[in-house]
Amino acid sequence: MAHLSFDGCDAVALAKEYGTPLYVVSERMIRGRLREIRDDFLGRYPNTGALYASKALQTLDILRIVASEGVGLDVVSGGELFAASKAGFPMDRVYFHGNSKTDAEIRMAVEYGVGRVVVDNLHELETLNRAATALGRRAKILFRVAPGVDSHTHEYISTGRLDSKFGIPLDRRVRDAYVGAALGMEGVELLGFHFHVGSQLLSNESHLKAIGVVCSLMAEVKADYGFETAELNLGGGYGVHYHGDERAKPLSYFVDPMMAELSAACAAANLRLPRVVVEPGRWVVGEAGITLYTVGSKKAIPDVKTYIGVDGGLPDNPRPALYGAVYEASVADRHDAPRDEVVTVAGKCCESGDILIRDVALQSPEPGDVLAVFTTGAYNHSMASNYNRLPRPAMVLTDSGEHRLSVRRETFEDLIAREL
Ligand code: LLP
Repeated sequence: MAHLSFDGCDAVALAKEYGTPLYVVSERMIRGRLREIRDDFLGRYPNTGALYASKALQTLDILRIVASEGVGLDVVSGGELFAASKAGFPMDRVYFHGNSKTDAEIRMAVEYGVGRVVVDNLHELETLNRAATALGRRAKILFRVAPGVDSHTHEYISTGRLDSKFGIPLDRRVRDAYVGAALGMEGVELLGFHFHVGSQLLSNESHLKAIGVVCSLMAEVKADYGFETAELNLGGGYGVHYHGDERAKPLSYFVDPMMAELSAACAAANLRLPRVVVEPGRWVVGEAGITLYTVGSKKAIPDVKTYIGVDGGLPDNPRPALYGAVYEASVADRHDAPRDEVVTVAGKCCESGDILIRDVALQSPEPGDVLAVFTTGAYNHSMASNYNRLPRPAMVLTDSGEHRLSVRRETFEDLIAREL
């Protein structure tokens, strides 16, 4: 029986060597996506930039990989910013996002000298202006706007609608207050705008609608304030394969029509084409990761279903419980065996909702088998918790048959380390 091979590594051997649950992440695949960004976007369009949205998966190794490929970074908290600095990430390539940045985070962003602060509300704008002025600096900013387009994804990851906690509504009264204020401030330099319409989008429809909306905004602020938009950040959101016939689209599927639409709209409105920046997260790392578990139990409920229990679940992957996310899996010990048994894969938490995959056809899993769950590179490690005092998994990086420990497994001692 053939074992599952991932990036040239035997998954069963990895589980044996490093233990389970285990995040296995392919450095080669991540570099592949980062190079696609370089070749098909940065290399094809002048005056562009790209950021990796590091909330998807942030570790020191991942930060170093991203930096070495010449891509910038989106961070959303003091913690992410701190780690970026520890990894030696060039700060001028860091964009600081967030809808509720604390005063301390805003000061930190100014002190670290991040490339851009993406401002989401007036309080933040004023705090940033004060912090930058006090340090004798001028912070370059974009305003995050809510383009008011609906995206067809889970409500919790749809971010560009009018009724959203993110972004500045484009109602003229609100927008004028922001743009007018920023243009009169000494401590900030307004460069342009940012939008992010949602996540796990497999169609470019909402992105294109949003382009139309921000082009009107650019024309209006030019007419009203003489302000020419110098930079436009189109967010991320490009989807990946989780199950069935979902397929990740090439980057060009999103960026080419957006660039065409933007160029045409700018030409029509007599606007200078701004510097364009994109910031995908999931698309870069999602498919590059799998999680290995050990099957610990099997329970048949006659005429109902068969459950198998694994040694992880909700704490290392909250996405099925949070978003109803659907994953594919394989018994790594018998990857090529017929999938002749339908089972439900349960996590080990004291929580009925801790079900990783419902009714999936697998290769007759038995206790002791290694189960691989696919596409766990994005928003698994970064959203992991210690519910039920489960130590968070280790992470191994692979590269065409090579592998190395990148994040060690949490220990029981780690679990109580902060407690006084
Ligand atoms: N830029 C901004 C401003 C964002 O808010 C996000 C994601 C991204 C970029 C990257 O989006 P991506 O390319 O990864 O779709 N935890 C959820 C996803 C939340 C996404 C939040 N913002 C999940 O597990 O599906």
